[in-house]
Amino acid sequence: MEWVDADMFEEAGHGNKPFALRVPALLVTKSKDGELNFLTAMWFTPIGFEPSRMIVAVSKSTLTHERLMETGEFVMSAPSRDMMDIVVMAGRVSGREANKWEATGLTPVKPRHISVPLIAEAIGNVEYRVQKVMPFDDATDLFVGEALAAYMRKGCMEGELYKDDSDPLLYLGTKYDSNGKSLGKHYAEFSGVKCADYDSPLLKKYVTRR
Ligand SMILES: Cc1cc2nc3c(=O)[nH]c(=O)nc-3n(C[C@H](O)[C@H](O)[C@H](O)COP(=O)(O)O)c2cc1C
Repeated sequence: MEWVDADMFEEAGHGNKPFALRVPALLVTKSKDGELNFLTAMWFTPIGFEPSRMIVAVSKSTLTHERLMETGEFVMSAPSRDMMDIVVMAGRVSGREANKWEATGLTPVKPRHISVPLIAEAIGNVEYRVQKVMPFDDATDLFVGEALAAYMRKGCMEGELYKDDSDPLLYLGTKYDSNGKSLGKHYAEFSGVKCADYDSPLLKKYVTRR
């Protein structure tokens, strides 16, 4: 097999650029004294179905890190499209500078298994208990959360799929003009769900639909 030159690609700004389009999370924590906080998170990955867990990388400098170490509980909320301003704000401002819960006016919802609230305005929420803290580097720890309960807004999903008219936020990142000046944070619109083509030669040969 002949390997070709990478002429079809150009340099991307940073390491994980091709994976910029995804549903971000608001990671909610609560202090022992009952103070609520959340940050915008994109450095996370789900692992496994049963048990279902989440690994999330959290900067040691954040208030969220302090709270996670203190209580071992968190909620991850999937924002809807009209929560982009909250996602941008929570990704820039620390709970040490402002009470983000009050500033955004979000509505806390009673959880089932932990003491951290869900977010009523979100499209989905998951309750987690910290199972493991894995030191990663000087700036970051990895938190493994065991998923205890997952919630989707009524009518948003069919089986395991988002419905066409649901409105998850698909975060993208910063857009720049030709002089490198920021034009602000951007998101993409979700435009519906399609089935894989099981009649394609590849799937016909190797995969049966199930
Ligand atoms: C799009 C985006 C994604 C981010 N993802 C993470 C993340 O996964 N982990 C993290 O520690 N910080 C992440 N940050 C930075 C935090 O959200 C930010 O430092 C926040 O102000 C910390 O808030 P806190 O001090 O109230 O916890 C992200 C920021 C943005 C804009």
